[in-house]
Amino acid sequence: MAKVIIFGVLDTAELAHYYLTNDSEHDVVAFTIHREYLDNPSFKDLPVVAFEDVETLFSPADHVFFAPMTGRNMNRNREKIYNEAKAKGYRFISYVSSRATLFGNEIGENCFILEDNTIQPFTTIGNNVVMWSGNHIGHHGQIKDHVFFTSHVVLSGHCVVESHAFFGVNSTIRDYTTIAQGTLVGMASAITRETEEWSIYIGNPAKKVPGKKSFEAY
Ligand SMILES: CC(C)(COP(=O)(O)OP(=O)(O)OC[C@H]1O[C@@H](n2cnc3c(N)ncnc32)[C@H](O)[C@@H]1OP(=O)(O)O)[C@@H](O)C(=O)NCCC(=O)NCCS
Repeated sequence: MAKVIIFGVLDTAELAHYYLTNDSEHDVVAFTIHREYLDNPSFKDLPVVAFEDVETLFSPADHVFFAPMTGRNMNRNREKIYNEAKAKGYRFISYVSSRATLFGNEIGENCFILEDNTIQPFTTIGNNVVMWSGNHIGHHGQIKDHVFFTSHVVLSGHCVVESHAFFGVNSTIRDYTTIAQGTLVGMASAITRETEEWSIYIGNPAKKVPGKKSFEAY
């Protein structure tokens, strides 16, 4: 059992607290946010402390960190906190729901994998990956770091997902497809071929949205 510090005090942090408390061996002991947002010293009956000095109050030797944040700014906000907490010396946990179906897959750190995800055999998951509920992640795939799956995404077999990709609800990816770094797949869109970095794709079959980068939309 680890003593966990959760980053944030909004919905995702509250959900992380709920899932860890009800479906893990871990013990959440505090929350942390940047000092400029620190207007309440307590959340869920636990202390909230400034991220700037969290390591002096909850030593990295005795505590682990969890930052399961949203995909905003194409996962780069979550990546930044992940790297900063790492630089402070923290190790990370990952949460994998007891109601998810896995087959001994390799899973990185700071991953948040909710109920009803199926991750088929021989697929690996990098660091700082969020899978909201109900995704199908096909076999022999490779998910790199800082990726976000919302819900009910179908990633077919043998796909490679490069870092920072974001999949909207109900999106579908053809087998043997590479999703480039920072790709934003719109809700209910069907990707049939390799994508371009930091681009947005919508529709079925999905087409690239011209003249707009993914991080300008989300
Ligand atoms: C792709 C996306 C980021 C575009 O957002 P946006 O830049 O704000 O675009 P807009 O909503 O202004 O829509 C622009 C146009 O694209 C269309 N469009 C937007 N998303 C679309 C989609 N997924 N499929 C087809 N068309 C879409 C809109 O209907 C609109 O068309 P119009 O100009 O003919 O009226 C967004 O629609 C999306 O799919 N986000 C993912 C949402 C999601 O899955 N959330 C999960 C909760 S975390």
